[in-house]
Amino acid sequence: MKFFIDTAEVKDIIELNKLGIVDGVTTNPSLVLKSGKNMVEVIKEISNLVDGPISAEVVSAQSDGMIAEGLELLKISKNIAVKIPLTWEGLKACQVLSDNGAMVNITLCFSVNQALLAAKAGAAFISPFVGRLDDINVEGMSLIADIKQVYDNYNFHTEILVASIRTVNHITEAALIGADIVTVPPKIIKQLADHPLTSAGLEVFNQDWLKTGQKII
Ligand code: G3P
Repeated sequence: MKFFIDTAEVKDIIELNKLGIVDGVTTNPSLVLKSGKNMVEVIKEISNLVDGPISAEVVSAQSDGMIAEGLELLKISKNIAVKIPLTWEGLKACQVLSDNGAMVNITLCFSVNQALLAAKAGAAFISPFVGRLDDINVEGMSLIADIKQVYDNYNFHTEILVASIRTVNHITEAALIGADIVTVPPKIIKQLADHPLTSAGLEVFNQDWLKTGQKII
C-alpha cells in the first residue's frame, strides 16, 4: 500500500520524507489556504521534494474551465495529478485530461456509483472521503470495501486512494481491504509506529542493559 501525505505544509513533507514512506502528496483548496502560500508556488516546492504523484485541485465548476486549469497545473511538474471533484462536469474534464495522458485524481467521492463513473472516465485515482462519511454515521471503510469489490469485478485500473483519514484504524482497515493508497495527515503518520507495549518493552531492555555494565562500542 502506498502512503501519500495529505498536506500542503512543506516543513511536514521534508520531515516525513526522512522516514522514506512518502509515495506522493495530496492537496486541496483548504490545505492550500492552511499553508498560507500561493498554490502554484507551494505545489512547485512540493514537486521538487517528492517524485511521486502530487495532487493539485482545480476550482472551476465547468469542464472547460477545469480542463484549462488542469493544463496550467500540469505545467508545474511532470508528477502533477490534476484533482477534480466528482461532478458530471468533473467527469467530462477527467475524460479529456486522462485521454491526453494526464493523471487525474477524482475527489469528494462518497458512493460506489460515483467511483464507478470515475473509473469509466479514466481516472488514475479515486478519493473516497471516509472520515466525512463516519461524521454522518455512515461506515466510511465499508465504501472502500465496496469500491474494491466493484473495481476487481471489472478489472478497473483506477487506484483507490483512501482520503479524509482521521485515525490509524482507517489505515489498518484500508490495508486489510487492499486499498492501493492512503493519504494521511502528518500527525496521524507519526502515530503509526507508536505502541505502549513497544515503549514499555524498550524501557525494560534499556534498564537491564545498563545493569550488565557492558558496551557494544
Ligand atoms: O484529502 C482529503 C482530506 O484533506 C479531507 O480531510 O478531515 O477535512 O475530511 P477532512
